[in-house]
Amino acid sequence: MAHAVVILAAGLGTRMKSRLPKVLHPLLGRPMLLYSLEAALATRPEKGVVVLGHGREEVEKALLGYPVEVAHQEAQLGTAHALSMAEPFLQGFSGPILVLQGDTPLLRPRTLLRLLEALKAGAGMALLTMELPDPTGYGRILRQGEEVLANVEEKEASEEVRRIREVNAGAYAFDQEVFRLLKEVKNDNQSGEYYLPDLIALYRKAGRKVVAIRLEDPKEALGVNTRAQLAQVEEILLERLRRGWMEAGVRMILPETIYLEPTVELAPDVTLWPGVVLRGQTRIGEGCEVGAYAVLEDTVLEPGARVLPHTVAQGAHLEAGSDAGPFARLRPGAVLKEGAHVGNFVEVKNAVLHPGVKAGHLAYLGDAEVGRGANIGAGVITANYDGKQKHKTEVGEEAFIGSNSVLVAPVRIGRRAIVGAGSVITHEVPEEALGIARARQRNILGYRSRKDETA
Ligand code: UD1
Ligand code: CA
Repeated sequence: MAHAVVILAAGLGTRMKSRLPKVLHPLLGRPMLLYSLEAALATRPEKGVVVLGHGREEVEKALLGYPVEVAHQEAQLGTAHALSMAEPFLQGFSGPILVLQGDTPLLRPRTLLRLLEALKAGAGMALLTMELPDPTGYGRILRQGEEVLANVEEKEASEEVRRIREVNAGAYAFDQEVFRLLKEVKNDNQSGEYYLPDLIALYRKAGRKVVAIRLEDPKEALGVNTRAQLAQVEEILLERLRRGWMEAGVRMILPETIYLEPTVELAPDVTLWPGVVLRGQTRIGEGCEVGAYAVLEDTVLEPGARVLPHTVAQGAHLEAGSDAGPFARLRPGAVLKEGAHVGNFVEVKNAVLHPGVKAGHLAYLGDAEVGRGANIGAGVITANYDGKQKHKTEVGEEAFIGSNSVLVAPVRIGRRAIVGAGSVITHEVPEEALGIARARQRNILGYRSRKDETA
């Protein structure tokens, strides 16, 4: 029979020491909650409920588009209380219920299916457990052979129980009795909370079997309560991603220094140098090389494009044979056509550099269209902003813009035109013409000696 899932995510996450609700803390650029949610949805439930409390409005936004309903837990009285908030949403539903916590992002769908299978095999409740070298902070599992007797929260545990290394991973499957038994959970414990794992004892009292599914790889159920655990989980996700891409043919130099998000796509024979950061919808084509400490976000490198060290790109598109950097800054709408070259300390924004354009040093090209083969000298600036509006600069094919010129937009430089170095260009320069707009040089002969004499 089809099952339902409930995800508990109402807690503040005090131990994170943050204003942000814990389940919104990002892992590889996405809220932590989406990981357990997607694992849960991959089991194809008939219904999904997420229990929210702290920062509810914010968390709800992250859930937009997911086929789940939101239950509200006004006061965080414990995990059992949180689960009971889902009851009204599951009225009339009589299948098994999978319960997860929003702070265990590494769980895999196939593990969740094992919990459900345990119910099919006759248990009333199944829970996931794992053996940890350091069980601090988790609930300890008491068992007698294969039977689970109880879970003891750390706060309630004696010295002896604290030494138990098998812990509650915080993922459960229950039969339809769960909401009835939840009403019997008490809060007479150290924290005055309603503990969900107390259902173990209640199921047993009701004569139902409780089984534990022990995880082979305890990493899979790491819970995130602290910043250190968040970093640890992120590192594990990164390792999985990096290993996957290396298996797919990507070369990573010092892979442990490379950060990439699950949305990034890489082709075979891509080379990533140390310290590279790849975010969002970045796509890197076959054979491309990304230099050390480059940061690329939503950026596309077509096969054969090159990014040199320390380049920062956002929403840029590099065609075959184009290159940027070292120290280039590409902003949204920067397009480098075939063979275009952008060198050190050049910033490009909303500008198309047609094939073969060279902008080697210290320039700003914003809201511009630069024709095929044009040369942009060092220090050239498109003055695209008049204080109110942005305007466009057009540079014709094979034009030559001398160093340190300012092109005051809107303005056009014709085909094969030349702009003299140091010009401030405010009017069109026609095709083939020389545009020069600077004070003429004057030499005053003998000036130095006369000056020294009068001193
Ligand atoms: C919980 C388990 C513990 C287990 C561990 C595994 C309980 C009492 N303890 O402890 O046995 O080893 O997870 O990671 O269940 N939440 C609510 N409402 C509340 C309280 C919590 O929605 O009133 C949510 C939190 O947002 C969180 C989850 O439930 O996603 C777990 O809460 P947390 O306080 O992190 O429990 P742990 O102390 O980690
Ligand atoms: Ca937790």
